[in-house]
Amino acid sequence: MSTDAKNILISPSIIASDLTVIGDTVRSMDPGLVSLLHCDVMDGNFVPNLTFGPGFILDLKKHTDIPLDVHLMIEKPELSIGRYLKAKPWAVTIHYESTRFPARLLAEIRSAGVIAGIAINPATPVEAVYDLLPSADLVLVMSVDPGFYGQPFMEPAVGRIRRIAERIRHENASVRIEVDGGIGTGNIAAVVKAGAGVIVAGNAAFKGGDINGNVRALLKNAGA
Ligand code: DX5
Ligand code: ZN
Repeated sequence: MSTDAKNILISPSIIASDLTVIGDTVRSMDPGLVSLLHCDVMDGNFVPNLTFGPGFILDLKKHTDIPLDVHLMIEKPELSIGRYLKAKPWAVTIHYESTRFPARLLAEIRSAGVIAGIAINPATPVEAVYDLLPSADLVLVMSVDPGFYGQPFMEPAVGRIRRIAERIRHENASVRIEVDGGIGTGNIAAVVKAGAGVIVAGNAAFKGGDINGNVRALLKNAGA
C-alpha cells in the first residue's frame, strides 16, 4: 500500500465512477497514489440508495491488488458480515446507528484479521464511540449524511475529528480516523490537521476522469 511522508491514505469511493467499467477503471489507477478503494455498500434501508453487495466486492478483487476499504451502510450488518469478511478486505466499517451489537461485530471483524471500523453519522454525538475505542481499529467520521456521493461537506466534522483524535491520544489507543463525504482540495488540509489519516474522496477523485491527477492534487493539498 502506498503511503506518503505524512502517511495519508486516499481512498477513492468507487460509486462516484461508472461501475459498469470498474475493471478498466481500477487498472488505470497508480497504486503509488491510490492507497485504498472505498466500497460503499448501501441497502436501500439504512440509507435511501442501493449499490452492491459482497458478490461484487469479490469480483472487484480479481481486478486489482489495491486493498479494499469496505463501508457498510446496511441495517443489521450482523446478518451478512461474514460474506464481506470472505473477501479479505483491508477494513470493514459498520455504522454505530445500524446495529445494537457494535462491540461483538468489531470483535468478529478483528478476529478475521481485518481492520475493524466504526462509523458515525453527523448527528451522532462523538461520545457514542468513546467506549468502543478499545474494540476498534478505525473510526469513520461521516462529514455528510450517508447515501450519495457529491454532497457538500459539513464543517462541524473538523471539530468532531479533533475531539475524537484527542480522546484517542488520551486513551493511548491505536485507532485511525477516516473522514468521508464532501472532501476536496479546499478542505483536505483541515481534516488532516484535525487528525484524519484516511481520506475518502468520491467526486473529488473521479471528476473529469483523471483519477491519478486528482489524487495527486488531494495529496499535495493535504500538506503531504
Ligand atoms: C456517502 C458515501 C461516501 C461518498 C463520498 O454515503 O459513504 O463514501 O461516496 O463521495 P464524495 O466524496 O463525493 O462526498
Ligand atoms: Zn463511504
